[in-house]
Amino acid sequence: MTQIFTTSSTLLAIESSCDETSAAIYQGSELRSNIISSQLFHTKFGGIVPELASRAHVQGISTIIAESLREADVSMVDVDAIAVTQRPGLAGSLVVGTNFAKGLALKYNLPIVAVNHIEGHIYSAFIENENIRFPFLALIVSGGHTSLFHVESFEHYTVIGSTRDDAAGEAFDKIAKLLGLGYPGGIHIDRLAKEGNARAIAFPRSMLREDNFDFSFSGLKTAVRTYVQKTLQHTPNEEELRNICASAQEAIADVLVQKTLRAASHFGANDIVVAGGVAANSRLRALLRDEAKKQGRQIFIPAMAYCTDNAAMIGCIGRQKLLHGVHSPLTFTIGVGSLRAKYRG
Ligand code: KG4
Ligand code: ZN
Repeated sequence: MTQIFTTSSTLLAIESSCDETSAAIYQGSELRSNIISSQLFHTKFGGIVPELASRAHVQGISTIIAESLREADVSMVDVDAIAVTQRPGLAGSLVVGTNFAKGLALKYNLPIVAVNHIEGHIYSAFIENENIRFPFLALIVSGGHTSLFHVESFEHYTVIGSTRDDAAGEAFDKIAKLLGLGYPGGIHIDRLAKEGNARAIAFPRSMLREDNFDFSFSGLKTAVRTYVQKTLQHTPNEEELRNICASAQEAIADVLVQKTLRAASHFGANDIVVAGGVAANSRLRALLRDEAKKQGRQIFIPAMAYCTDNAAMIGCIGRQKLLHGVHSPLTFTIGVGSLRAKYRG
């Protein structure tokens, strides 16, 4: 492997950590393609089936990469390096992307850089906006993770808080499930909440008074179940359903916003990045923007295609790593890894 990665080099990025197969091409700093294939079939199982996810990645990955090359109007011989998601995620999913990437790296004699998926989310805001100022605060909220990061540079970031149980998206999904709504649940709750009364039920705001930046959402799920079973004692009608959705969503948004702004103030960060699937939540977005504005802070939320799992975000940080001379041996292994682990990039 002789290539030196420069600011004008071409990069292929691959993401397959969960249920999205994605490939992206960067030519220099320009994102030329970002192809995402979502495994929608999991919906009928009410959650992701790891074995099926893995098989779908195997079936789709070669086509997705070919499509990303075609859309960018390049071929594999033009590619100078590969970035691939190494951790955390589902083992059977990660192994498909990393092994495919390693195969290509061997065949085309290319450097490869293993990327932490969460790092991808943290820096995803840079895909469309290079003006974010360090140090910034990043709230990553999805079905699998809910963490706050203090980000000092492309190389240095610290986890300052995480959920102690369910991720925020998981809370949305579990509450939606117990209310008989579809999967994934966040979007259904968001839609119903728009016509509900967010003050109808005082659901708990866990850990809000505690002097840390951690979260806990499993109590909220229990509170919703208790409300339906013990207070209502019947299947909620349309109006009750809308009020439960609005009140539960408000509890989640409230905790996320208050803790994020408290952390921003503690660390003196003016810019705040919010990413991950839950960043699509309309109430979270509105509340964050309103409250941040009051404090003179700026919120950066990437477009939805870059919020949910995608290869562009892996390429964005992978490119920075390669420019800093970082790459990985072909022997690197996947890591399903704890999301609560403290790491510094
Ligand atoms: O980042 P993502 O696509 O996948 C991972 O979990 O990595 O996030 C999916 C999560 C699901 O839990 C889904 O319910 C939630 O994001 N979500 C939402 C909304 N859209 C997606 N949660 C709240 N409101 C939404 N509008
Ligand atoms: Zn993710």
